[in-house]
Amino acid sequence: MKLLVTGGLGFIGSNFVKYHLTEHPEDEVVNLDKETYAASPLALRELRKLRNHRLVKGDICDRNLVGKCMGGVDAVVHIAAETHVDRSIRNPRPFVRTNVAGTLNLLMTARKCGVSRFHHVSTDEVYGSLALDSDKMFDEATRYSPRNPYSASKASSDFLVQTFHETYGLHTTITNCSNNFGPFQNAEKLIPKAILNALSDRPIPVYGDGKNVRDWLYVDDHCSAIDLALREGKPGETYCISAGNEFSNLQITKMLLDIIGKDDKLIQFVEDRLGHDRRYSLDSAKIRSQLGWHSQHPFREALTQTVSWYREHKNSFS
Ligand SMILES: NC(=O)c1ccc[n+]([C@@H]2O[C@H](COP(=O)([O-])OP(=O)(O)OC[C@H]3O[C@@H](n4cnc5c(N)ncnc54)[C@H](O)[C@@H]3O)[C@@H](O)[C@H]2O)c1
Repeated sequence: MKLLVTGGLGFIGSNFVKYHLTEHPEDEVVNLDKETYAASPLALRELRKLRNHRLVKGDICDRNLVGKCMGGVDAVVHIAAETHVDRSIRNPRPFVRTNVAGTLNLLMTARKCGVSRFHHVSTDEVYGSLALDSDKMFDEATRYSPRNPYSASKASSDFLVQTFHETYGLHTTITNCSNNFGPFQNAEKLIPKAILNALSDRPIPVYGDGKNVRDWLYVDDHCSAIDLALREGKPGETYCISAGNEFSNLQITKMLLDIIGKDDKLIQFVEDRLGHDRRYSLDSAKIRSQLGWHSQHPFREALTQTVSWYREHKNSFS
């Protein structure tokens, strides 16, 4: 199978390309990435070593380029996006451009080129926020209720993908995943920032009261779910992905400090993010029962491995 992967130099994209070509060495990957600030130079170095991988530097909004990249492609795995909520609050425009207009461009081109499968990688953030004291979980039937420009742009892209299935019969699948952690993530995100700051004895900023809860998944487990949904997912379906590792930001930060062997005194509470979603919790029963997916990486072990990876590569993040 020949795949077009978008955003394959970012955190999840680069892990997915490596995962996919390890699992399916006979496949070919064209990796279209704009190389924004979020693209990882370390990932670029590693991916260059892979056989059956071709990198194209460019924008998913560029009609001509996307048309060229999709020639002879069997499947699209759309991972590229603007992803940092704080940046979307400061300036939503690039989020609408890439996440909405870029997704539309890919869908229209996929239809024109007769691509057989279009898999869209999305987030649990489209479902909004749960109360800390509630025992509710999000699942595929939950009504969309995005609360910041990032999640609104992802929700819009999900609707476009669903529409291309309903209206034009494009074979689409969507995965909405909980928060990921692992190697190659940009240092602006909570876990890499906490690790890198702790390793250099710098204060670790924690928003508000630190009680906001996220549901954490090791990135390779996300990659295996994407791979499965791409190959075996039913057209038009959405699958929620999580491993039920719910922790507050403060708990995560303390766990990291414990693994690294540094004092909690490095924690510095800072002014809360505007409209900060309180809790995400995602039920992955559908993909487990219908496609047989399960996460394979125990949380604490994967977190410890992640710390080791950033320790080994910390000089590349300065
Ligand atoms: N990180 C998470 O915890 C998480 C969880 C669930 C879902 N997701 C989704 O997974 C996807 C990837 O997230 P990530 O954290 O790996 O992102 P990231 O910010 O690390 O990487 C995004 C990549 O997309 C590329 N890109 C951005 N704009 C582009 C454009 N216009 N054209 C081509 N390439 C462009 C960047 O250069 C970068 O390499 C996103 O769609 C995100 O919504 C992320």
